[in-house]
Amino acid sequence: MNLKDLYIDFFVSKGHKQIPSSPVVPENDPSVLFNTAGMQPLIPYLTKEKHPYGTRLCDYQKCIRTNDLEEVGDKTHHTFFEMLGNWSLGDYFKEESIAWSFEFLTTILHIPVERLGVTIFAGNEDIPFDQTSFDKWRSLGISEKKIAKTVEDNFWIASDTGPCGSDTEIFYFRSEDEIPDFFDPEDERWVEIWNNVFMEFYKDKEGKITSLPKKNVDTGMGVERTTAILEGVNDNYLSSLWKDIIVLIEEISSLPYEGNEKSMRIIADHIRTAVFIAADPAGIKPSNTDQGYILRRLIRRAIRHARVLGIQIDSDWDLQIANKVIEKYKKYYNELEENRQIVFDVLQNEKIKFNKTLEKGLKEFMRVSKDGDIKGEAAFHLFDTFGFPLELTIELALELGLKVDTEGFYEKFKEHQEKSRTASSGKFKGGLAGNSEVETKYHTATHLLNAALKQVVSKDVHQKGSNITEERMRFDFSCDHKLTDIEKEKVEQLVNEWIREDLPVIRQEMEKQEAIQSGAECMFIEKYPDIVTVYKIGDVSKELCGGPHVEHTGVLGEFKITKEEASSAGVRRIKAVLK
Ligand code: SER
Repeated sequence: MNLKDLYIDFFVSKGHKQIPSSPVVPENDPSVLFNTAGMQPLIPYLTKEKHPYGTRLCDYQKCIRTNDLEEVGDKTHHTFFEMLGNWSLGDYFKEESIAWSFEFLTTILHIPVERLGVTIFAGNEDIPFDQTSFDKWRSLGISEKKIAKTVEDNFWIASDTGPCGSDTEIFYFRSEDEIPDFFDPEDERWVEIWNNVFMEFYKDKEGKITSLPKKNVDTGMGVERTTAILEGVNDNYLSSLWKDIIVLIEEISSLPYEGNEKSMRIIADHIRTAVFIAADPAGIKPSNTDQGYILRRLIRRAIRHARVLGIQIDSDWDLQIANKVIEKYKKYYNELEENRQIVFDVLQNEKIKFNKTLEKGLKEFMRVSKDGDIKGEAAFHLFDTFGFPLELTIELALELGLKVDTEGFYEKFKEHQEKSRTASSGKFKGGLAGNSEVETKYHTATHLLNAALKQVVSKDVHQKGSNITEERMRFDFSCDHKLTDIEKEKVEQLVNEWIREDLPVIRQEMEKQEAIQSGAECMFIEKYPDIVTVYKIGDVSKELCGGPHVEHTGVLGEFKITKEEASSAGVRRIKAVLK
């Protein structure tokens, strides 16, 4: 049995419900491009919402982190990875969490106790030393010398704001050397495998820390790293998760892994991630913004490294690798099988596009690099004319020991954007959204807008997507025509009327079937669990939704449509603000 199955079985046996992995592109959270941790889709439930599956949950979650994209190529970095997690939502706390982690590691994975070391929170002026965790680890047979106390590394928060708390991290001694008596977290032979966060606080934008209404546990264990450890390899790409993909790349290129590790790892990693992005229900396509830009960079960088290995770019090398990835993972993620053709098309089309200019672009790069460091203008020219993502130019330059004037690039980029008026906001934004008060208001406003459109335009209007920022809301809906001024005005009036009526927003839990029969609106029925949350606003709106929402509509202010435009065939887009 593999690690994922062992993990889920174990936590189910401890009363946890397995929840499905969320898509890699978060829904209704515009502040991050991808899910970066298992806990991310659970944020509303770690703060105030009640989870329909109960208070003990476990899962394996697809995650993508792109801040280290350029590091991929070494033994341990990946852009896509899976995170195992178990959660207590106001149920058990430190003692049970630690005891179960210990039991899983030592009795299910058979890791010898001597190979384990842990860190715990040392205490500061706000939060005391974590005596409970210390005592628990001691009682399980972890010697005092194997318990390290730190402040910085033992407080976990996803970004600047959000649910947070002290944690205890579990390390494994990954070396043939004799196991030392003393655990030093700075010693690289010790690697972190599991993080148990005791989430009892919330940090707001002003940096103020308050207690959450309930004490939660959030744990995370990386599948790639732990699998490599269990299999005794010190290069993740040699574990069973990657081995057959690497072997396939060796076959395609007729080259051995040894000596070509960097390019092979990049190809394996980037194609795997591209497969998961392209297969996601969000329908991402390569582009120059947001997730589409990451997808583009991944595919183009993989192509460049395939070229380094002398692979015939026109052949189906990329589809062969994608196919292998799909075969390996389809048991766990249905969308891979369902969207196999979409994935192939994305790879194929992007390759055709890039291939047209790649050769000429590389020549152009060689030409401009003769004069030394690459000027901003030249980098922009490579981007604009030859489709070289900036990062690709940087990587090529680095290989020659040259620098790229990125500031100059962005200046040119901005000039160009202003010219073509396609400025897209928040493109490179990272970090995690705490659902702020404003965003919560906008969220409720999308439900009202949806209901108003149905009344004014057609009962066949359905939501196709939404995106909320602190500044505005965006709402995509099915509709076969451009809204008339009268329609827009009526929609606005209706929403404002409902706001003035100060309608109560009621949250209910019910069986999915019952919710649908009662006429509740929902976007993707198959994506919801059997028990769903329904938000009802007065008698005007009823939708399946995870929240969060305001308690009554009166707090929304004044609703104003700022733009109505086409989004794609048969889909219109409204942008609106609350004032
Ligand atoms: N949120 C913590 C982490 O990402 C534990 O799941 O490490």
